[in-house]
Amino acid sequence: MRIMTFAEEDVPAELRARADALREQAWPGGGPHDPALRPVTMLLVSPDGEVPAALDILTKEIVHGGRPYRAAGLSAVVTDAARQGRGYGRRLVAAARETIRESGADLGLFTCDRPLRGFYESAGWDELEGAVLIGGTPREPFPSDGPGFDKVTMAGFFTARAKRDAGAFRGSRVELYPGEIDRLW
Ligand SMILES: CC(C)(COP(=O)(O)OP(=O)(O)OC[C@H]1O[C@@H](n2cnc3c(N)ncnc32)[C@H](O)[C@@H]1OP(=O)(O)O)[C@@H](O)C(=O)NCCC(=O)NCCS
Repeated sequence: MRIMTFAEEDVPAELRARADALREQAWPGGGPHDPALRPVTMLLVSPDGEVPAALDILTKEIVHGGRPYRAAGLSAVVTDAARQGRGYGRRLVAAARETIRESGADLGLFTCDRPLRGFYESAGWDELEGAVLIGGTPREPFPSDGPGFDKVTMAGFFTARAKRDAGAFRGSRVELYPGEIDRLW
């Protein structure tokens, strides 16, 4: 198994079809990401070209506490239903953390359903206690503590300035505003 990383528009057709089939399993009818979020696709690829797991990384500039940061988040993390529980998801999610760190992004930031907190922690991510991500747009905000949600916010602080300011993110409402397509990325 190897991990392959592409800008979303550069994923070779055969791998793209396999990754799309995985996403379709988990999120039927889902569409492509917003190109403005510079989507990067990471795939776990078997020696015979199968794709047991996939995820996407989305990136945007945010402002928090009056300071600008480059934030990246995980989106559409999925392992083939027939091959779950073999460590594939963890391996890809841990690799994505390294990819984001090496990209120069200040921080990684995303939400997940509460039962998956341990899965992401096992791949190196930390819970950002009490933090709420505000998705959507300033005009139509889509907060991660909205009705019916039981989300936790996961994060990694990578650059020196992000590490210094990490305390300002804990217990706060982070205005992510990724837009109308990837509303909570
Ligand atoms: C979440 C998902 C990607 C995990 O992939 P996976 O390849 O099965 O995960 P791994 O085999 O690497 O599991 C790592 C650990 O996370 C735990 N875990 C995996 N899925 C879990 C779930 N749905 N709920 C709680 N824990 C889970 C596993 O038990 C394992 O823990 P262990 O090592 O203590 O046994 C996969 O279940 C999936 O595709 N789910 C549907 C889509 C989804 O919900 N994606 C996440 C969106 S935020």
